[in-house]
Amino acid sequence: MCGIVGFIGKAPEKVLLEGLKRLEYRGYDSAGIALKFSDRMDLFKAKGEIKNLEKIVPNETTARIGIGHTRWATHGKPDETNAHPHVSSDKKWAVVHNGIIENYIELKTKLNDFGYDFYSETDTETIAKLIEYFYKDDCNVISVLNKTISSLKGSYALGIINKEQDGIYFAKNKSPLYVAKCGNEVMLASDIICFKGFAEEYYPISDGVFGYATENGIEFYDNLSKIDVAPIPLNLGDYSNLNTYKHFMLKEIFETKTAIKNIIEYYSEKNNINKFDGRDISKINRVKFIGCGTAYHACLLGADMLRKKAGLDAEAYVASEFRYQDVCVDDKTMVVLVSQSGETADTLAAFELAKENGAFTVAIVNVEYSTLAKNADIYFPIKAGVEIAVASTKAFSAQLSVLNIFAGLVGERLGKNSDPLYDVRKLFECFDYGNINDFKLLADVLRYNDSLFMIGRGDDYYIAQEASLKIKETSYINSNTYYAGELKHGFLALIDDATYVIVFATDKNVFTKTVCNAEEAKARGAKIILFTCFDLSEADAENFYYIIKVKELGNSLQSVLNIVPWQIIAYYTSINKGINPDKPRNLAKSVTVE
Ligand code: G6P
Repeated sequence: MCGIVGFIGKAPEKVLLEGLKRLEYRGYDSAGIALKFSDRMDLFKAKGEIKNLEKIVPNETTARIGIGHTRWATHGKPDETNAHPHVSSDKKWAVVHNGIIENYIELKTKLNDFGYDFYSETDTETIAKLIEYFYKDDCNVISVLNKTISSLKGSYALGIINKEQDGIYFAKNKSPLYVAKCGNEVMLASDIICFKGFAEEYYPISDGVFGYATENGIEFYDNLSKIDVAPIPLNLGDYSNLNTYKHFMLKEIFETKTAIKNIIEYYSEKNNINKFDGRDISKINRVKFIGCGTAYHACLLGADMLRKKAGLDAEAYVASEFRYQDVCVDDKTMVVLVSQSGETADTLAAFELAKENGAFTVAIVNVEYSTLAKNADIYFPIKAGVEIAVASTKAFSAQLSVLNIFAGLVGERLGKNSDPLYDVRKLFECFDYGNINDFKLLADVLRYNDSLFMIGRGDDYYIAQEASLKIKETSYINSNTYYAGELKHGFLALIDDATYVIVFATDKNVFTKTVCNAEEAKARGAKIILFTCFDLSEADAENFYYIIKVKELGNSLQSVLNIVPWQIIAYYTSINKGINPDKPRNLAKSVTVE
């Protein structure tokens, strides 16, 4: 979380603000920049979104160097004092940081003993003071940086400037950081999307590497040795803009069909679908799917697809839990990491654990230059295109589509007769966005609710979980999910005549049972909203307060047809409540802290 950007060149204030806007998906609690002039360094900080910072940063300054930060608060409340950049006591050093310094209290205590005072609650201020402390006795900044990062435990992407020096120092460990140059201008950023329009190639920075950039070039160091880093062509495709949409969330929902088309095109190529070529997976006896948030919900459905298509023992885990459970991973285990960003810290930590235990790792990712995509044994891109809105939408549908292909491929390898692309092609033929007016009407009803219940069985339950997450994230409604059969084991106590219960019933094998569970809630006064793909007789329909009907697909990608309406309902509920669905309070899109 948090985004950092640095720039050496003309109009750094403009470039930094533009870069920070592109990084806002990483947090928007506060923002700040430091600009270095020939004789001074100025700091600008503001609470909230970049647009607040923009109001206080002067235009057309004579500065040539600057660093900037957009924050998702971890240590200390989101206010101006805790906003980055943080400075040393002599105000000569300014630091922006993404990550968490786990031993900052220990370092702070030592620095306190050496006479340093702290003005903020952040871990980052410790870094600024540590640099100042080492620099007092050693004016070789490369050696100072080496000492500084050797003292830090945890994750960091750092941009550092000194008011008397004409460059930017940087360092990275377990938080993304990239650098690019164009002529004698240099840019440093948490995400290569900042380089779009600036450079044609960029330099990835490996964990533990640090360096120094000036107008004359970029130097990289590992310990105290200079190292060469090869540039990579910048290949981003279209950077997302709103076009005629008011919000990225709605635009991205309506890009779902294109994502499915991209997936079919990509995986129809022999070279792209033959991911397992040269790999022997015959000894694999269990598969673990791991993700966070929306990606975890995709994992639940992915595990189900694999059980059905390959007959393998498959389970889904929340990444932050997987690390602390006795998860039985060995060289007969396949671990499938699902992540839109490919940078989620908990997912990366689970990946490391899987590797340490000898598992075969598969990444299902959207961001193809991400850490996960680069390091897994094989990776399946989900081809959804850039996703900006915090609430993941098209990426979820794309994850399900690719998980379905993945499950088919594993099945094929294990001797099951299947066409891995069959379900996705059928989904594409059948796909539509449903009856938007019905969804809007429901969103009008939901806006007045403080809490909601969603129930279902099997895949319907997993989709209820994802629908519930969308509603929570974008509308702040306390939406709860229960297995339909579990209502009577306690949860009915919560039901009264003000309660709305949404029943997900798109599986004909359990339709009647699920609807009977809803009846139990109705008998206690609840208003039942039915979400189904089946026709009901007029008499049956009368049992429900409201019915939403979607198309019936007849394979496990029914889940895609089922989730899109809820993404749209969540969007309009959010709009009805006056919330910006692209930037819900307290959240960020890429969660790079554990
Ligand atoms: C955050 C985002 C969610 C996302 C989750 C996992 O919580 O707000 O939208 O599902 O992280 O992110 P990933 O990039 O790993 O899919």
